[in-house]
Amino acid sequence: FDRIIIAIDGYSSCGKSTTAKQVAAELEYAYIDTGAMYRAVTLYFLQNHILLTDSRAIQDALEHIHIEFNYNSVKGCNETYLNGLNVEEEIRKQYVANSVSEVSAIPEVRRAMVTQQQMMGNKRGVVMDGRDIGTHVFPKAELKIFMNADPIIRAQRRQLELREKGEIVELEDIIGNIKKRDYLDTTRIESPLRRADDAQLLDTSFLAIHEQVTWVVAQARTTI
Ligand code: C5P
Repeated sequence: FDRIIIAIDGYSSCGKSTTAKQVAAELEYAYIDTGAMYRAVTLYFLQNHILLTDSRAIQDALEHIHIEFNYNSVKGCNETYLNGLNVEEEIRKQYVANSVSEVSAIPEVRRAMVTQQQMMGNKRGVVMDGRDIGTHVFPKAELKIFMNADPIIRAQRRQLELREKGEIVELEDIIGNIKKRDYLDTTRIESPLRRADDAQLLDTSFLAIHEQVTWVVAQARTTI
């Protein structure tokens, strides 16, 4: 079988990364979470008080940011490292989510991340999830999926996920964050979130994760 590139794009909290991770495991592909990369850059900018209007500081910061994914054999999944430090837990917190869409709209940030993502995928056999994978990072990906779900259901899933990590956030606040991110992600100038013409639509509102995984794997098998 040929090893293909599977691009999974869509709105936040539709189950993209959980699905992508399991699809990758099933096909024995690499999984790359591009949202984690933008979150890591955001964390660095917050920690180093980088002003989003200061393009020199941004350029300089990008040269000092090194992101990698290392496998945690205990947890059985990849974890995000920023300049050698494991930031997996930190980048999932709400204060990072609150700033990530502003940071990821900066053209220099996108250019730097897209270059890295293209290098990570050049060996093929990858499942990459994000917002612009099928439209921009790998426009020739053999399989493209675009996920969406009802915003209230997405907010409830997100709330549950945060609660499991011990972070209690009001549903109203999560809905607010989701709406704000949707707006910023779809209206930004540089590679906005949109469905590629050749992407298959998957509405996950009433699907369980295993159903989503089965569906994507079936699509992959017919593509390979
Ligand atoms: O996927 P996740 O929700 O972790 O992504 C966090 C944020 O990173 C998104 O809301 C979006 O602003 C940004 N992002 C992006 N392009 C990608 C992946 C994520 O702009 N390919």
